[in-house]
Amino acid sequence: MLKRISYISKFSRPLTRDEVNQLAADAEERNRSLGITGMLMSSGGIFYQMLEGPIEAVDSLFQKIAADQRHTDVLVLSVQEEIEDRLFPSWAMKKVNLDEEALSRLEPVKALLEAIVVQRESMQRLMRVLSRSVWQELMDDNQPRS
Ligand SMILES: Cc1cc2nc3c(=O)[nH]c(=O)nc-3n(C[C@H](O)[C@H](O)[C@H](O)COP(=O)(O)O)c2cc1C
Repeated sequence: MLKRISYISKFSRPLTRDEVNQLAADAEERNRSLGITGMLMSSGGIFYQMLEGPIEAVDSLFQKIAADQRHTDVLVLSVQEEIEDRLFPSWAMKKVNLDEEALSRLEPVKALLEAIVVQRESMQRLMRVLSRSVWQELMDDNQPRS
């Protein structure tokens, strides 16, 4: 059985095109030996990656990736267990740099990625408000009643 994970993350510092290319080339080489396929997209300081392969290989690779210092704020977008087919059977890691691609058909992808990032930021703001309000409620509850 195969598993597929997709996530977005932010560059933790500005990465040059060469650094991103090197990261993707190293990933491709390792993935080939792990039976992992997928794609790695970058755009405006954001990574979007899809990884697919044997369940254990995907899980242990994703743990490593999530702890990688080159990016931060890793947000899992989807986890699919027990998939039968790969979306990217022939790519050990297809690299797509949307900042460089002149293909206008990728413009909607770029816009979607940006929209997800904006949504994520407003979700994070809402979560902060939620945790403050919950905390406030619980503190108020603890006050002795007069
Ligand atoms: C955005 C991003 C995507 C990555 N994708 C992969 C990948 O597909 N395959 C891979 O082997 N390493 C990938 N890496 C690198 C891993 O985090 C890690 O450095 C690598 O697996 C080597 O780990 P090791 O030295 O502990 O064996 C990625 C790193 C980042 C920041």
